[in-house]
Amino acid sequence: MDKRIDGKAFAEGLRARVASIAADFEGRAGRQAGLAVVLVGEDPASQVYVRNKGKQTLACGMASFEHKLPAETPEADLLALVEQLNVDPAVDGILVQLPLPAHVNESKVIAAINPDKDVDGFHVVNAGRLATGLPGFVPCTPLGCVMLLKDRFGSLAGLDAVVIGRSNIVGKPMAQLLIAESCTVTVAHSRTRDLPEVVRRADIVVAAVGRPEMVKGDWLKPGATVIDVGINRVPAGEGKTRLVGDVDFASAAPVAGAITPVPGGVGPMTIAVLLRNTIVAAHRNAGIALDESGL
Ligand code: GUN
Repeated sequence: MDKRIDGKAFAEGLRARVASIAADFEGRAGRQAGLAVVLVGEDPASQVYVRNKGKQTLACGMASFEHKLPAETPEADLLALVEQLNVDPAVDGILVQLPLPAHVNESKVIAAINPDKDVDGFHVVNAGRLATGLPGFVPCTPLGCVMLLKDRFGSLAGLDAVVIGRSNIVGKPMAQLLIAESCTVTVAHSRTRDLPEVVRRADIVVAAVGRPEMVKGDWLKPGATVIDVGINRVPAGEGKTRLVGDVDFASAAPVAGAITPVPGGVGPMTIAVLLRNTIVAAHRNAGIALDESGL
């Protein structure tokens, strides 16, 4: 089997399944499932994400509501918009693109989102549901990583997993998901002592630190599975740039048993899982049963 885990191909398949379910939903509910995306300011990376989200939402047969607000939008106006989306029956999922401008309290805005429309899984209610094993919404990137792992290996039970990074968006939910899959989980971070030695114990390594090519091949147990969440733009000479992960692919690939490339690994999964979460939200909000096992 190819060592490379092809997230691009898996994401395409997932989007096709979502599109088929979305068509069925439209027939049953008499309306399309809808995703609202809120972008505040002009961060170039965020603009690219939001454009891609909008395009892929439409391509899956769902309605896309984009709200682009100026960087100086007062926090109160943003909270009022979130409240309007919370009560709008055409909106099943709400995503407020992060980062928000410095004058806006991100936690306050996320807390204002109806947890049952929180398709990003960032609300504390959804973090709590994940931690306690209740149905809710799980952050898209870590859920995508677990989907890739389960697709490759079936059961993950009993495997040693090391998650490098402890963010609320990736590291912590990733650890929760791996615990739920019966892995033995270690969460490493910037203060971890002897990180290479910790990583060497792992059957599964998830790198989510945002440091270009930090994890080296000689840190890995031979045959380990490497999931690289990093997307770092680095200089490539002659004024050009290239994308690299948090893993040094050149040294890691010969040692690993399986590895996600950057680009084309975890990256394409995030939006596909967002669309998956949105169609799930639509069914829950409309009170229509959905077999989530194929999703
Ligand atoms: N900024 C970068 N990635 C994400 C994401 O997945 N969701 C949101 N809301 N903002 C982001």
